[in-house]
Amino acid sequence: MSSETIRIFDTTLRDGEQSPGCSMNIQEKLALAIQLEKLGVSVIEAGFPIASDGDFEAVQAIAKQIDEAIVCGLARTGEGDIERAGRAVESAKKPRIHTFIATSDIHLEHKLRMSREQVLEEVDRSVRQACGFTSDVEFSAEDATRSDWDYLVQVFSTAAEAGATTLNVPDTVGYTTPKEYGDLIAHLRGRVANAESLIFSVHCHNDLGLAVANSLAAIRNGARQVECTLNGIGERAGNTSLEEVVMALKVRADQFEGLDTNIVTEEIYPSSRLLSSVTGVQVQPNKAIVGDNAFAHEAGIHQDGVLKAAITYEIMTPKSIGRASNELVLGKHSGRHAFRNRLSELGFAVEGEEFERAFKRFKDLADAKKVIYNEDLEAIAADSVQTLDERFEFQGLDLRCGSHAKPSATVRLELDGALVECAASGVGPVDAIFCAISELTGTKSELIRYQVHAVTAGLDAQGEVSVTIEEEGRRVIGNGVHEDVMVASAKAYVHALNKLEWHKQRRDVDAPRGI
Ligand code: KIV
Ligand code: ZN
Repeated sequence: MSSETIRIFDTTLRDGEQSPGCSMNIQEKLALAIQLEKLGVSVIEAGFPIASDGDFEAVQAIAKQIDEAIVCGLARTGEGDIERAGRAVESAKKPRIHTFIATSDIHLEHKLRMSREQVLEEVDRSVRQACGFTSDVEFSAEDATRSDWDYLVQVFSTAAEAGATTLNVPDTVGYTTPKEYGDLIAHLRGRVANAESLIFSVHCHNDLGLAVANSLAAIRNGARQVECTLNGIGERAGNTSLEEVVMALKVRADQFEGLDTNIVTEEIYPSSRLLSSVTGVQVQPNKAIVGDNAFAHEAGIHQDGVLKAAITYEIMTPKSIGRASNELVLGKHSGRHAFRNRLSELGFAVEGEEFERAFKRFKDLADAKKVIYNEDLEAIAADSVQTLDERFEFQGLDLRCGSHAKPSATVRLELDGALVECAASGVGPVDAIFCAISELTGTKSELIRYQVHAVTAGLDAQGEVSVTIEEEGRRVIGNGVHEDVMVASAKAYVHALNKLEWHKQRRDVDAPRGI
């Protein structure tokens, strides 16, 4: 039987980026977009080009880089928005403009202050304008699940008549339930003219924890595009989690017969790890599919069963999502070739200077640590893509601390190419390190959060530190990985400061966020 495609529309770089603390710079977005293409997503929503110069440039850079996937830019229905999105995606091999306007009476009355007729005119005008840039136009009725169903039929029919080929039905506030949402999709497919030639798309938020269930119910009722994000990140409680919806369709293929997402599922875990490392936002340990405990069997009776036959308690293998088992993979005698091969098996293509940096880190780690796990290598590889045009480069750290000593730190940085050094004391060693770095960089930022995460089990595990700082309302996260948690802390803080510098050098236009 030939299979039908469920298009995976990834919005990690747009709706996902709207989660607190998940903002990314161009290099980070590009690295993720390249990984998303490897993962096999059908559409990459690369950003909201009118939102800022940074967003526009990121969408443009992704459009130039990506070969297979459709590259999409989001736009409200205004002329300026569509124009900006059109320009941002124009060099993509497969460009798409995604335009949206709210359709619920709640939004019409309180937010847009427009009548239903005015919204219909706006839908018609904007879709026609978008079609002037590309034949691939998607239209979304924001807050669709709280909109009048008959009015939605009018809205979507107008959009389709004006040229939209994908009609998206967002559950913007995460309000709907599987039965209701499935019925809504069936209603629209039954009433919108020429529905057979259109793709109905779903976009769910997870406020009631139902985003994946709602998306699956919609698929059952004929939706053929699912909008989702890696690790389920997104506005408030997040969006439909890509890994959950894809694996539900795969593991329960008996329930969703004849449907295929074309996702290379072995790339799921590397993609999830790359996102966590870029944003510094780790998934909760019990997160389905990609959480630390998702394949950990703790109860004796379960362990016994899994050892006898994995099928007793495992509905999918870690390997099927690209999660290599926690085995010893390389040692200090391993050379460049073995290291490169292993990284590529783990889904990382690290080249040139980044490769050399990663290889040196691996060698240093192999000297310091008895056992090197795949997770260690992933952390090193992900760390090596965090390259900006860096103003500050961490060069070294000496530390004095303990129960009798006043903590003090001497930090060496390369600042605009010159080596500088500063000593400072603090309440604890991290405070001392951060005071020295603040002194050297003259930063006015405020420390919002400091987190440490052990990359693997074992006392000699590498520490992955993430530091959130804020200046003038701009919040960024920096990461650092090292077997010495204090060095990881210094690297994470310097990384965050580099990101702030990067933002300062680009003057973002005052534009909308938080759709
Ligand atoms: O949640 C939402 O309604 C959106 C739209 C822009 C699709 O993100
Ligand atoms: Zn959304």
